[in-house]
Amino acid sequence: MILSRHKAYTRAQSPFPMTEEAKRPVEHVEIVPAASEHATILANLLELYVHDFSEFLKVKIGADGRFGYESLPLYWSEPGRQAFLVRVDGSLAGLALLKRGSALSGDESAWDMAEFFVLRAYRRHGIGTQIAHEVWRRFPGNWEVRVMQANVSAEHFWTHAISEYVGELVHPVRVEKNGECWNLFSFKSKHSL
Ligand SMILES: CC(C)(COP(=O)(O)OP(=O)(O)OC[C@H]1O[C@@H](n2cnc3c(N)ncnc32)[C@H](O)[C@@H]1OP(=O)(O)O)[C@@H](O)C(=O)NCCC(=O)NCCS
Repeated sequence: MILSRHKAYTRAQSPFPMTEEAKRPVEHVEIVPAASEHATILANLLELYVHDFSEFLKVKIGADGRFGYESLPLYWSEPGRQAFLVRVDGSLAGLALLKRGSALSGDESAWDMAEFFVLRAYRRHGIGTQIAHEVWRRFPGNWEVRVMQANVSAEHFWTHAISEYVGELVHPVRVEKNGECWNLFSFKSKHSL
């Protein structure tokens, strides 16, 4: 699906000259269902995602130079899981993985935003917000978004994206499970939004 045109994509002053490509305004943001033949693409993007997390989370890289993401094949073998690739003007820009069933509250009917990632070059242009809103429109019902307490920038992002979606300020609640501290956002996505 092609989402709406968004604000101009420009970079702050950089020692590296911007290519014509980088200066181009963002035209189309698409979220594309990922089939099993896209597994390698998702696995590659997940490496970048986990590397971002390694700034505040203890994750150990394997001897093969990869972090790995064990549960990726489940997205094509287990019901209630959905994987999406994000493209901006045709180029890969991120991913979204969702699954049915809360990881924290026990609400089996809730959708859980398992993983969500926008490549660094595309951040702070409203793309994450557009993608999240489109995912919530496509999957109405109860939603839960979990953010590790150490991931402060993601908490700001989700507060913005969820509050804008539901039309009122939504705050997370703090939840501890198996020694991990989370900020948990819970809300309902209605068909009519
Ligand atoms: C979190 C993430 C998805 C945000 O994507 P994005 O496309 O940059 O988000 P948006 O441009 O739609 O941001 C919308 C608003 O969220 C808030 N926000 C986004 N990133 C933020 C940051 N790093 N610090 C503070 N606020 C932030 C801002 O209010 C922003 O509006 P503004 O740019 O006008 O100030 C992206 O930074 C990312 O992939 N991070 C690494 C992976 C991750 O943490 N995923 C979430 C796991 S729970």
